[in-house]
Amino acid sequence: MADRVYIFDTTLRDGEQSPGCSMTVPEKVRMAAKLVELGVDILEAGFPIASEGDAEAVDAVSREFPWANVAALARANKADVEAAAKALKHARRPRIHTFIATSDIHLKFKLKKSQAQVLDEACAAVELARSFVEDVEFSAEDATRTDWGYLEAISRAVVAAGARTVNLPDTVGYTVPDEYAEMIGRMVQALGDSAIVSVHCHDDLGMAVANSLAALHAGARQIECCVNGIGERAGNAALEELVMAMNTRRDKLPFETRIVTEQLFPASQLLASLISFGPQPNKAIVGENAFAHEAGIHQDGFLKERTTYEIMEPHSVGVPETRLVLGKHSGRHALQKRLDDLGIPLRREELDVVYQRFTALADRKKGLRNDEIAQLARDVIQQTKASEAAA
Ligand code: KIV
Ligand code: ZN
Repeated sequence: MADRVYIFDTTLRDGEQSPGCSMTVPEKVRMAAKLVELGVDILEAGFPIASEGDAEAVDAVSREFPWANVAALARANKADVEAAAKALKHARRPRIHTFIATSDIHLKFKLKKSQAQVLDEACAAVELARSFVEDVEFSAEDATRTDWGYLEAISRAVVAAGARTVNLPDTVGYTVPDEYAEMIGRMVQALGDSAIVSVHCHDDLGMAVANSLAALHAGARQIECCVNGIGERAGNAALEELVMAMNTRRDKLPFETRIVTEQLFPASQLLASLISFGPQPNKAIVGENAFAHEAGIHQDGFLKERTTYEIMEPHSVGVPETRLVLGKHSGRHALQKRLDDLGIPLRREELDVVYQRFTALADRKKGLRNDEIAQLARDVIQQTKASEAAA
């Protein structure tokens, strides 16, 4: 039986606050429109106390998409919660997301507060947030380095204070799937049906997606993530990877989201055009090479039967077509197919000559563009014509 998982998108908050990712208010509204089309369940639009721009963005997104669940971040204090409530005043479905660090290391060096003090402040912030909105989320920052007994106590306390969602972030990307699943399982058991347990993973050790998915098996039902995996340091869990893992491996991950997967690539492209970098070429799902096949054996297999080398259809994530990169590892079959697609079918002898020239050229270059391949073919066709005329 498939279980519903809520996708909490934080591209416009955790993503946007990282180097090279800042967006203006109109840019955030543009990206929000795409996120709404993509079907995210909750859209975190900013951290209102942090800057006027963030407060404006939360307000603009709330007005523009009144039916969306819009979240605003606030530290667990009065000024932050009030700023979030103010920025959300036009939202029809507002969520205040308040947080405080709970690990010993953060309490000792950053907050210089006791566990009891932090617990009291967390509950007070949740109560204050509930005086403005129904939907309040609490995050225990650095949850994965927090004592589990204390984490359980603070989770129970914030739920009693009115939080509906308890988020247990791996703020520094430190956990591993087994450990995270065990921790989440314990908190899910402690909270029962009183709150949704949420996960929020950073990718410092490259395990943000694996950790988030492991937590689903333990009962988490909200995942916080970003398009293209942008976010602090190594980034947040990549939305497109989480969703396609669930879609492609339903046998192992029987969970449902409302994401319109055909919008994944367009969302990735739009984000790349708004910030200062795009996904790396070999990025899963949305990278330039994610559906490209260059090795001759792969191309040959793929052309015979797509599923030999592809586990997802490019169009299912909105990638226009499978792209066979023609380079020095490509075979005759792939070259012939490309020429057919380009509307230049060749005779066998012509193809032999073009293939020879093509491999010689491809040896020196990274890959050949369609216009270069077409030119090679046209040259050979002209030469054949000339020699036939001379004969
Ligand atoms: O990584 C983190 O702990 C956060 C919280 C504010 C949710 O981004
Ligand atoms: Zn984060």
